[in-house]
Amino acid sequence: MTPMPATAAVRVRRAELSDLDDLVALEESSFATDRLSRAQYRRHLDSESAQVLVASANHRHFLGTAVVFFRKGTHVARLYSIATKAEARGKGVGSALLDAAEKLAARRRCTSLRLEVRIDNHDAIRLYERLGYVRIGRYARYYGDGADAWRYEKVFG
Ligand SMILES: CC(C)(COP(=O)(O)OP(=O)(O)OC[C@H]1O[C@@H](n2cnc3c(N)ncnc32)[C@H](O)[C@@H]1OP(=O)(O)O)[C@@H](O)C(=O)NCCC(=O)NCCS
Repeated sequence: MTPMPATAAVRVRRAELSDLDDLVALEESSFATDRLSRAQYRRHLDSESAQVLVASANHRHFLGTAVVFFRKGTHVARLYSIATKAEARGKGVGSALLDAAEKLAARRRCTSLRLEVRIDNHDAIRLYERLGYVRIGRYARYYGDGADAWRYEKVFG
């Protein structure tokens, strides 16, 4: 694996077809259950109601992704997925992706972003709380393996 260049600036852009291999590989290495398939990613790339973001260094070094869903008739956007490549974690990639997801949601006239997270996912929970997400509930047995989820929300408008 190529390490993330220490001085590289993290950029966040919209995902393209050429990102599919990286997206699927990251999904498989990051999540044991409830994964997005290649076909689902492919569909989300062209969708009005979803946007797949990619974080990269120096434009081409793939570092991570976030998937945001939008629904007609609501001003609440949903962060469906976020993941950083294992060797790039703890360097601000997740924060950059969340920031971009919030800006995207605000541009789409949403007033808040909601997400679910496994209650034992301490890295992700710390990141969300540091960035101002507030716990708003709990879903029992939310994930395919029976784990519960916390629900979080950040209101920005
Ligand atoms: C959650 C996740 C997206 C965070 O991405 P990231 O790029 O590491 O995020 P950041 O670097 O911006 O912040 C991560 C936090 O963990 C700390 N951290 C340090 N080393 C770390 C490491 N090796 N792995 C994870 N977090 C680490 C960071 O310092 C930071 O702490 P802080 O919030 O107190 O400053 C990433 O850990 C990941 O992909 N996890 C697997 C997939 C996942 O669980 N996604 C969330 C589903 S709800």
